[in-house]
Amino acid sequence: MNLQDKQVLLTGASGGIGEKMALALEAKGASLILVARNRNKLEALKNSLNYPQRHQVLCVDFNQSDGIEILDEFCLAQVKKRRIDVLINNAGNNQFSFLAQRSAQSLQQEMHLNLMTPILTSQAALGWLQRPGIILNIGSTFGSIGFPGYTSYCAAKAGVQRFSEALDRELDGAGIRVLYLAPRATATPLNDDRVTEMNRRLGNHSDAPEVVAQHVVTILEKERAAMWIGWPEKLFARVNQLLPKLVSNSIRKQQDTIHHYINQATSK
Ligand SMILES: NC(=O)c1ccc[n+]([C@@H]2O[C@H](COP(=O)([O-])OP(=O)(O)OC[C@H]3O[C@@H](n4cnc5c(N)ncnc54)[C@H](OP(=O)(O)O)[C@@H]3O)[C@@H](O)[C@H]2O)c1
Repeated sequence: MNLQDKQVLLTGASGGIGEKMALALEAKGASLILVARNRNKLEALKNSLNYPQRHQVLCVDFNQSDGIEILDEFCLAQVKKRRIDVLINNAGNNQFSFLAQRSAQSLQQEMHLNLMTPILTSQAALGWLQRPGIILNIGSTFGSIGFPGYTSYCAAKAGVQRFSEALDRELDGAGIRVLYLAPRATATPLNDDRVTEMNRRLGNHSDAPEVVAQHVVTILEKERAAMWIGWPEKLFARVNQLLPKLVSNSIRKQQDTIHHYINQATSK
């Protein structure tokens, strides 16, 4: 899709990756509907863009029962004035902890934001998204590789990948593509100091959020069904499908380091 003059609804817009996506999409000529919970952050982002008057903000908490309804009502009203061409499901969060130490509520909220929300916004979008249109779901390397400390987040992102694939096939010929982009570790507030330090100790590369933003532009322009960012993560994602034992052995060697950093949070 050529992004010039397209309208893109971007969730998680005020986050580390969302902010850089907004800049990159605006540079391609898109208008944006910037979505997150914190209005001040959204307004600051909008005003930091080159053409603030082209963009809008929408405050939604997807973990509230009326979150999807608020988004849906806004979009149904919006498309009476101007079409919405792209939905990017980017809002997400996670908690780096042992499963045994998580509350049921925090697990439910993590699953809801990372998995149910993209499913429900995609369902809603079928009622207002322009044809041809694109739904882009932001996943993670952890959607392809189960990693200690991120059990429920891995489950949610794996679900997002399969959901994207299934819906893309379900809508084949209907004018809507459903794409999936899996970033690896990226330097944003999502990762606290422990995670950043652990990644450094394990030799896991962390991308700047601008790298993810450029991949977002590429996947939208080329309409590739799925993309993984970075070597060797791209390779590990494939190896984990074919030879999961190899990846388990490699993670086993890192186990003491991983547990050390998980325990730092647990002991706080
Ligand atoms: N950073 C990484 O290492 C990494 C790696 C792979 C994949 N990803 C994925 O990339 C996406 C963006 O992550 P990021 O690193 O940019 O995270 P981030 O900096 O923490 O930003 C998260 C965004 O989601 C919004 N958000 C959080 N909870 C929300 C809720 N309940 N309702 C609505 N919006 C909510 C936040 O804004 P408010 O707080 O104002 O609502 C913020 O805009 C996520 O899907 C993440 O899983 C990140």
